[in-house]
This record gives sequence, structure tokens and C-alpha cells, in this order.
Amino acid sequence: MRTLSLAVSPRFITLTLVSAVALCLAAWIAARPWDGAWRLVPLLLFGWLTAVGVRDLFNTSHAVLRNYPLAAHIRFILEGIRPGMRQYFFEDEKQGTPFSRDERALVYQRAKMVLDKRPFGTQLHMYHGGHEWLNHSLAAGRPEKENFRVQVGGPETAKPYSASVLNISAMSFGALSANAVRALNEGAKRGGFAHDTGEGGVSPYHLQGGDLIWEIGSGYFGARMPDGRFSPERFAETASQPQVRMVELKLSQGAKPGHGGVLPGAKVSLEIAAVRGVAAGVDCISPSRHSAFSTPIELMEFIGRMRALSGGKPAGFKLCIGHEWEFLAICKAMLETGIYPDFVVVDGSEGGTGAAPLEFMDHIGKPMRDGLNFVHQSLRGIGARGRVKIGASGKITSAFDMARAFALGADWCNSARGFMFALGCIQSLSCHTDRCPTGVTTQDPTRMRALVVPDKATRVFQYHAASLQALAELVAAAGLGNPGEFRCAHFQRRISPQEVRSFADIYPPLAEGELLAGTGHVGFARAWARASAGSFQAAAV
Ligand SMILES: Cc1cc2nc3c(=O)[nH]c(=O)nc-3n(C[C@H](O)[C@H](O)[C@H](O)COP(=O)(O)O)c2cc1C
Repeated sequence: MRTLSLAVSPRFITLTLVSAVALCLAAWIAARPWDGAWRLVPLLLFGWLTAVGVRDLFNTSHAVLRNYPLAAHIRFILEGIRPGMRQYFFEDEKQGTPFSRDERALVYQRAKMVLDKRPFGTQLHMYHGGHEWLNHSLAAGRPEKENFRVQVGGPETAKPYSASVLNISAMSFGALSANAVRALNEGAKRGGFAHDTGEGGVSPYHLQGGDLIWEIGSGYFGARMPDGRFSPERFAETASQPQVRMVELKLSQGAKPGHGGVLPGAKVSLEIAAVRGVAAGVDCISPSRHSAFSTPIELMEFIGRMRALSGGKPAGFKLCIGHEWEFLAICKAMLETGIYPDFVVVDGSEGGTGAAPLEFMDHIGKPMRDGLNFVHQSLRGIGARGRVKIGASGKITSAFDMARAFALGADWCNSARGFMFALGCIQSLSCHTDRCPTGVTTQDPTRMRALVVPDKATRVFQYHAASLQALAELVAAAGLGNPGEFRCAHFQRRISPQEVRSFADIYPPLAEGELLAGTGHVGFARAWARASAGSFQAAAV
């Protein structure tokens, strides 16, 4: 039998205090010279508070409410507004995660084309470990208004693509609202840069005229048979659309590598179901591994198939680096099959997502800079760097972030959350709740209407243009001609107050073809020996 022991417990004191306050309030309001029905208001209020208090007392899921009925609701309210309070009142310019206030403000200012300069001097601590900088040149150039581009497409490609060095990273319709997708694509069209669809398929909102990189993941959304297997016919149909300029296979995503994903049935509307080619109202699952291939050789054959089915458009894959021998196994498969991807996009574990388990976000996969340089060196090591381009994504929002990625091996950069900020995202960290306050990551039509497409498309376009302008200034300051000339030797990192190291020492290079000749590079020799083109499993050495 349930017993209630209230004798001088915290619960008793709280109940007494809350009841006393509520009673005084009710009595005071009732004593006001209000007439008729208004007198019911305090009584209703009192009755409602009593009902809530009694429910709290007997609830079985919140211990704190059982002990502190009514009063403990304040705790839940404060928990809810904590992130906002911290952001507005307590965060300084360099704080805030994943993006500091300064990083966010820079994007907002560039997207709005308002003053993006800072006064007085840096707020960074230059003598603390981890500080990084770009060495400038005494023969600095004059920054030109540049629209830096890179040609993607190896010898097997019939329709190479001239990509901007900054593009919109993969985010699906479903993770993003329809208005967000439309604004991104319109912005991409105006700025002449590419918009990656994400793995959720090509929706009508993507078709505003901006260049598309069509991504398929392990769910093959938009290119699947009813049982979830890859459908070559459906793939060819969409890939041949003129707006699709490149096709991309997602192997893994930095924020949740090896995890796969689920869009809950409740969010699978008729519209999303039609775009993805799945049943409405049923959980939409991306498995954690692909069914279309199971070995590195089969992966390369699949990439070749994607290229052929798309009519010769550049085909590549996106991944976050995990076991190093697996990527080297893919390199061996390139050599063995003679099939090379046109590009590889390296995503870092610091990357974003609509929703992922904390363990995966925090502790699985290589961070972008390490993975990027590893892929760059591996491709150099097999003599394929000239034909395979590299994209990079992972917290790239400023021109310095871009320059550093170029030095580490990127040919172009992708930004997801940077462009979300340009759309008005305020980092409320509610993407997974469908209650995004700015209409960016929600399917709720009443919230989505807050995002006015023409206005935000202009911001997307302006953020891109201003970022390229800032990049041109860095290129000039370093005395270079274009971003592809940034090298590790141009960057330095403070390790401790006493020690500074060049990126060239932190990321020792492989010579072109060195893996083929037999390398003594400690970081590569062992993983290369364990890699086999016929399997993702490591060979015993
Ligand atoms: C809301 C959201 C949805 C995403 N959806 C996808 C996706 O469908 N496919 C994919 O490859 N990456 C997806 N990503 C990852 C991004 O494309 C990108 O790789 C990652 O966020 C790193 O870039 P960032 O640091 O600029 O955000 C998503 C990221 C976010 C924030």
C-alpha cells in the first residue's frame, strides 16, 4: 500500500509554502472589487495549481516533482531556457560550442553584408598551446575579386564540373525544411556554387536552378527498389537531370560514422516519402553499411557504375576516416581495378548532424584535419593525387578555416552549419526536436514560414561571396596566386609556450608514388601492409 509520510520532510515544507502562497494569492485576488465571473479566476487558478501539485506528488517518473510538487517545475523551466540564457548573458565572444559567438557573428555579418571587422586587436591568447597562424609574405599581392574554382572530373568523365572552392555541404530535405532547401539552392544559383542534396533525395525544393551534387547513402533514397536495394534505373533517371552536376556516394558522416540513421515514421510525411521512395508514416532507415557492395574492389566498381549511369558526370564518395587500412584498401582497389573516383569528400568527426548519439559525435572517427591530410597523402602515395580531387568539411566557416584546409590537401571546402547560420540559424541546438525557432531544421509549417526564402537566399549568396573575398585577401597576404598554393609550410601551431611547430613537421608528407615504391613512413607503412583490395578487413602482418 502507498503511504504518504509528510512529517517535516522537504516535501512537506515545499507543499506548505506553495499552498500558503497560492492561498494568499487566491484570497487577495478574491478580495479585489471585481464582479461576477472574474471572481472565478483565482478559484480556477487555485484549483489548477492544486491539481498539478497532486499529480506531481503521485507521478512516478520525476522524483524531484514527487518531493517538491509544483516548485520543481521551476527547475524544468530553467533547464529549458539554460542554453539561451547562457548564450545571451554569460558567453563571451570566444565561447560557445560548437561555434563561438565570434564565429557565428562573422557568418551573420558576411551574410548580411554589414561591417565584419573587429576593433582594437585579437582576443586570442597567442602564447597558449593550440594557437595556429598563417605566415604572411613581405611580397604580399593585391587581393583581386576572385571566383576561385577547381575542375573536378578525371579522364573517364564526360562532363567535368568546374566547382567553386566553397560549396553547401550535404543536408537532406527532411533534416532541413522546404524553405531552407529552396533558399540554399537559390543562393547557390546566384553565386554559381554547388548545393549537396544530402542523402534524402532530390526534392522539388532543390530544383531552383542551382548546381546540385546528388548524394546517395546506404538507404539509396530516390534510387531504391521497394525492398531498399539500389535501383540503377531510378538512379539514372535522377542523375541525368541537368541540374545534377556530380554524384556522390556517402560511406560515412563525421558526426555519426558507422551508425546509419532513422527518420522516425511520424516525420515521414507523404511529401518526404515520395522524394525518398519509401512508405509514408513508417520509420525511414539508413542502414549502417551498404548493400550494393561489400569489398573495396566492389566499391570502386560501384563508383564506376554511378559515373556511367549519370552519363559521365563526376562520381565520388564522402567519408570520415576510421581504420586507416580501409582507406588504403580503397586505394589498392583503385590501382587494381583502374577505376578512380573523381573526388573524395573528407568529413571530420567535428561535423554536424540533425541528430546523433553523443558517443558517436564526441568519440568516433578522425577529426577533419587529420583525416583530410591522411587522404591527401594516401592519394599522393599511390600517384593518384592529380586525378582525384578532395573536398573537406568540418567546422569550416571563415577564410582562415578554408586556407588551412587547402594547405592540408583540400581542393575545395564544404560548409553545412556555416550556410545554416547564413539562413538565420541561431544555434539553439534543437534540430532533433522539430522545434527549430528559425524554421531551418523543422517540418512544422508554422515554424517554417518564418524563413523568408528570397531574403535568406540573398544571405546565402552574400555569405559565399564575402567568404571568397576574405579568402582572396589571405591568398594575397601570403604572397600566393590562388588557394591551391597554400602548403603546410605556410602554417604554424604553438604546441606549448616554449614550442612552435610547422604543419610540415606535424603532417610529414609522402612523396608522389611513395606507397608503391615501399614506404618507410611510420604512419603509413604498417597500415599499407594490412590493407587489401579484396576486403575491408585488415590482413594479418
Ligand atoms: C542538419 C544537418 C544534416 C546533415 N545531413 C547530412 C546528409 O544527409 N548527408 C551527409 O553526408 N552529411 C550530412 N550532414 C553533415 C554535413 O554535410 C557536413 O559534412 C558536416 O556537418 C560538417 O560540416 P559543418 O561543420 O560545416 O557543419 C548534415 C549536417 C547537418 C548539420
